[in-house]
Amino acid sequence: MKKWNIAVIPGDGIGPEVVSEGIKVLQAVSELNPAFAFDCAYFPWGCEYYAKHGKMMDDHGMEQLRAHDAIYLGAVGYPGVPDHISLWGLLLKIRKEFDQYVNIRPIRLLSGAPCPLRDAAKEDIDMLFIRENSEGEYAGAGDWLFRGKPEEVVLQTGVFSRKGTERIIRYAYETARSLNKLLTSVSKGNALNYSMVFWDQVFEEVGKEYPDVKTYSYLVDAASMFMIKQPQRFEVVVTSNLFGDILTDLGAAISGGLGLAAGANLNPDRRYPSMFEPIHGSAPDIAGRGIANPLAAIWSVSQMLDFFGYPDWAEAVLRAIEQVLTDRDTLTPDLGGTAATAEVGDRVVAALTGLV
Ligand code: NAI
Ligand code: MG
Repeated sequence: MKKWNIAVIPGDGIGPEVVSEGIKVLQAVSELNPAFAFDCAYFPWGCEYYAKHGKMMDDHGMEQLRAHDAIYLGAVGYPGVPDHISLWGLLLKIRKEFDQYVNIRPIRLLSGAPCPLRDAAKEDIDMLFIRENSEGEYAGAGDWLFRGKPEEVVLQTGVFSRKGTERIIRYAYETARSLNKLLTSVSKGNALNYSMVFWDQVFEEVGKEYPDVKTYSYLVDAASMFMIKQPQRFEVVVTSNLFGDILTDLGAAISGGLGLAAGANLNPDRRYPSMFEPIHGSAPDIAGRGIANPLAAIWSVSQMLDFFGYPDWAEAVLRAIEQVLTDRDTLTPDLGGTAATAEVGDRVVAALTGLV
């Protein structure tokens, strides 16, 4: 039997509430399939830990995480600890040091999920966003000169290395080829005359190795309009760190909202563990009330199963989520229901058990 070691970081606010439902589903999968199992180790890091120890994680935290096959994260950040400290001290530290340079965000309208686009059908919204996750506009490069003076100048520099740009674009071509789908690159070469001209050039160069993959290239402003007006144009999409951050929130809005949006931070070389998380935050406004929607956290479990090489199980979890979505009474308040977080998790497990 294959045993996968998962490092679980429930984190802050609703993080622990939604993560325990994800783990419920993961354990259900292993019970339904005796060929593999999951061993979870819990790490109590986050803002409460920071309040006690003055740091977001243990000094040897990265070594402890490294010994695992994957990381499952709830959310970090809570009033009392500045967001740039909680973010850089845990989430961004893990993404960077474990070279998780691919951020995968599925934008898929499941049956029963609410969609604000009047005419969109389920088949119209089915995209896989591949966002550059290690450099670009979020490289943290820049300067702040003459602070507070009339001549004050702030520089925020995008960093696009050949290695970083090629590897994300190549990953996207490989993904589009294996799924037999169109690949769209989103950039802004007309205005960003260095970084995005380079991006477009690399997209074309690497594309020569993939003559079988049909491609499009859009400017980011046009792409945001098309995502609303003609979402069926997009299948696999590759884009930079900043554009991907913004467009995937737009994508979450048209495919059911934050309570349904999942994201995977992958180290495709598998030298380091990859990290799976719902993309929402710790939601302090509803934390502790047992009403957070766990479906995004459960969707990230589906992504984890896919990454481990169990695409059928990944799909089964999504089908179970779809079943639960079709009955409004079994949903949390953000989706118009009255159910509690744990009830939704139980319903997904029941649906999954009925499916297989
Ligand atoms: P948020 O995602 O926590 O909440 C935004 C709104 O969506 C809130 O009204 C919240 O109640 C609702 N919401 C979010 N997830 C939900 C769920 N599963 N079910 C039902 N409703 C849900 O974003 P916000 O308020 O900007 O940030 C709160 C804290 O979370 C901050 O400290 C921020 O830094 C942190 N954060 C952490 C992230 C992470 O760990 N990946 C991502 C985003 C924010
Ligand atoms: Mg974001």
